[in-house]
Amino acid sequence: MGISYNEQSRTFKLDTCASTYMIGIADDENFVGHIYFGPYIDDDNISYLMRTKEPPFVPSVNGRDRLAFYDSFPSEYPTHGLGDYRDDALAIRTGKGNTALKLSFVSYDIIPGKKPIQGLPATFGSPDECCTLELTCRDEILGIDVILSYTVFENVDAIARSVKVINNAGDPIELTRVMSMCLDMDNEDYDLITLHGSWARERHINRRPLSKGIQGVSSLKGESGHQEHPFMAVLDHNADQDRGEVFGFSFVYSGNFLAECYVNQFDSVRVMMGINPEDFTWRLEPGDEFETPEVIMVHSSEGIGNMTRSFHDLFRNHLIRSPYKDLKRPILINNWEATYFEFDTDKLIAIVDEASKLGIEMLVMDDGWFGHRDSDNSSLGDWYVYEDKLKGGLKHLVDEVNKRGMKFGIWFEPEMISPDSDLYRAHPDWAIAIEGRTPGQAREQYVLDLTRPEVVDYTYDQVSKILKSANIEYVKWDMNRPLADMGSAKLPPKKMGEMFHRYMLGVYELQERLITDFPNLLLENCSGGGGRFDPGMLYYSPQIWCSDDTDAIERLSIQEGTSIVYPLSAMGAHVSDCPNHTVGRVTPFKTRGYVALAGTFGYELDVTKIPEEDRNMIPDQVKMYHTYNDLVRMGDYFRLASFSENREYDCYMVVSKDKSEALLTFVQVLNRPNQHSRKIRLKGLDPKRRYELTYVDPEDEKNNTLSGETYSGDILMKAGILIQNPWGDFQGRLISIKAV
Ligand code: DGJ
Repeated sequence: MGISYNEQSRTFKLDTCASTYMIGIADDENFVGHIYFGPYIDDDNISYLMRTKEPPFVPSVNGRDRLAFYDSFPSEYPTHGLGDYRDDALAIRTGKGNTALKLSFVSYDIIPGKKPIQGLPATFGSPDECCTLELTCRDEILGIDVILSYTVFENVDAIARSVKVINNAGDPIELTRVMSMCLDMDNEDYDLITLHGSWARERHINRRPLSKGIQGVSSLKGESGHQEHPFMAVLDHNADQDRGEVFGFSFVYSGNFLAECYVNQFDSVRVMMGINPEDFTWRLEPGDEFETPEVIMVHSSEGIGNMTRSFHDLFRNHLIRSPYKDLKRPILINNWEATYFEFDTDKLIAIVDEASKLGIEMLVMDDGWFGHRDSDNSSLGDWYVYEDKLKGGLKHLVDEVNKRGMKFGIWFEPEMISPDSDLYRAHPDWAIAIEGRTPGQAREQYVLDLTRPEVVDYTYDQVSKILKSANIEYVKWDMNRPLADMGSAKLPPKKMGEMFHRYMLGVYELQERLITDFPNLLLENCSGGGGRFDPGMLYYSPQIWCSDDTDAIERLSIQEGTSIVYPLSAMGAHVSDCPNHTVGRVTPFKTRGYVALAGTFGYELDVTKIPEEDRNMIPDQVKMYHTYNDLVRMGDYFRLASFSENREYDCYMVVSKDKSEALLTFVQVLNRPNQHSRKIRLKGLDPKRRYELTYVDPEDEKNNTLSGETYSGDILMKAGILIQNPWGDFQGRLISIKAV
């Protein structure tokens, strides 16, 4: 287990509990090649997989066909310009205008634990939990060193990869492409899964067969985005939740990304992930270095579900840092869908008066409390209280909320500036814009130039002043438009290509300062719903608002796609009012509660105005959250059926790590006449233990054909259970499963 080097075969072997990754040093020229990524193997005598003994051979044997070698060798980190015509991982421009680069292995180091990546979010682990291989490679002619890092998280079955480029030459160079990882492997009839979406329809699972040429996803929006997602899985064509080989790749970054597969003439596939090279250059002065964000690689021989659970464990234990990561989050009520911009202290207090009686634990005051903001057309950047709305000030409101036994949280959009704001009038050059060109507005706002330290400092001071002014225990950090018109009044022309990445470094610095200075703050990231739901953000906030679409049925597909990578504890999910504000659908309050239970759980409605019948259900939902949230937050997630696939119903369960308890959620979307009860095979239980199954709603328990008896885990998983088809559309069922 761990990392080992075989001097004789010149191979590195990286082992997790279930997978092996192997790298080889080939030929006299010390090419760094990829050998193997797959199920754990106990031998390392497989360098033949690099095919260096087959034509076109290595250059030391067949010098006259060097280019053919480059174009077929499985390279760990392919470089530009020498004859590997597949997309490359690293490209540069020298002072002389040349772009080619050749890397040879020089030395290696095996380090216990894992080093942080300067200024960037990254996984972490103690020497007991992980170890890191650093391979130093060099272009002797240019004097450039490249360090390839691989951290093996043995127990959670994941490997983190990142790259550092060091300019040891006497002249500056420009990086024009520096990917975080590359994996060359044979295409064994693989499919590709990506997460695709739109505003209010984020992260729907998109699966198709890999085909020749380039395919993949990317963002150029300055955020990971609603449309594509920095995740990709390459998997057996027949792989499903439980069977088949799956390779998952997740990029720990929140800005522009590229995730692609290139299937070439030999039917080998090159998987690559990193900062999007479009609109990216980075200048390295002599002695300077550049570190990439990291990619997490997970291999599973047991289907998609197993990959999912590795990502969940890795993110929960080695990425999320918040003190809340292992804690139940307060049940919040957010006033956005309740009031939009039309609120004042009295209205909020009226909501709190009612909410506190029902067991809700925190009020989150959303957009519209600052400057003179009555709609989305002004005041971003003016982070001082709108006294006309909050009579008596913010502290008064917070104190009143606290007096009623509830916590208080607040909304910010710190990265933005409205043209109609005092801040913009004072500092028009703080908005991102190209000199001489009027920048385009989106939602009537501009983006602050966070590449400038003085803008970062100012923004931080404004946010922190508000947080210090009252007992504020939660922040929702929103970001409601993508970046465009990339120009900075301060960056010199030769560094303008660095702007997108520098912007992200500014955002990360702001959030780092926030959670350092306010260590007990619960931070929730958000971007027009789920436009920046990525592992980068999870490093700062333990939860992210999943989507502006709070409709329980739309959420089934959104939450299914999100949970393929992210733990349920990270998914912001609320019960909202009906007809739903995004799709106009009317669903039972009970189903809305069941679906939100699979996330952080909260409310997004005016509790003083909803139907009494719904309001009366809240205390039971609160109880349900407190009963099951530990399990939902910390358990293993299993998908049993997918509404996106079968178009009829959705079903998933969460099983505690010790397998003593589980919770199954079933949602029937459309009822059909003359329908048999549905057979569902459970997963993740202990085959030898006996379990009792109870419907959480006593009304449903009446139809429980399994009540009063116990069943072995073996039977429940092999034979399955029957769920009577409920009467009506959009009906939910929640089944508690307990070992006896
Ligand atoms: C987008 C968020 O996703 C919403 O929840 C809300 O906070 C609005 N922005 C406020 O402008």
